[in-house]
Amino acid sequence: MAIRKIVKLGEESLRKKSKPVVDFDKSLWELLDDMKETMYAFNGMGLAAPQVGVLRRVVVVDVNNAFIELVNPEIVKTKGEDVEEEGCLSVENFRGRVVRPMKITVNAFDRYGYPFTLTGEKWLARCICHEVDHLDGIVFVDKSLDKEKYLKKHSL
Ligand code: NI
Repeated sequence: MAIRKIVKLGEESLRKKSKPVVDFDKSLWELLDDMKETMYAFNGMGLAAPQVGVLRRVVVVDVNNAFIELVNPEIVKTKGEDVEEEGCLSVENFRGRVVRPMKITVNAFDRYGYPFTLTGEKWLARCICHEVDHLDGIVFVDKSLDKEKYLKKHSL
């Protein structure tokens, strides 16, 4: 396992659309192991593969001490609304409010290619939505109610 370098906002790979995983092989497992180690090393709640420069649909999250790996995640159902402040390991010195669903259902595969469905509420739902956005080149700042504050000092 290894800690990988985190891609920061402004770098190109963070804005690209990631491709689905086809081979559930050793290189995927290494990526997942490294993402887990990297997320914990930087005290993140979640990490998406493009944040370590890999344009594949792979996400790890840890909310309430439950570590989850999601390969090719697809949010299939959302319910309600919730507003909280978010941050991101790729965005330094900014946190901002984002409207997210209160509850989501996500279909995904585990590291061996086995499909599963997960329902999450509140922070788990928020974290998964945030990470799935990364897979489509979307960063939370794009959607933040506090985007103007960010744009005073930076560009997107
Ligand atoms: Ni993020």
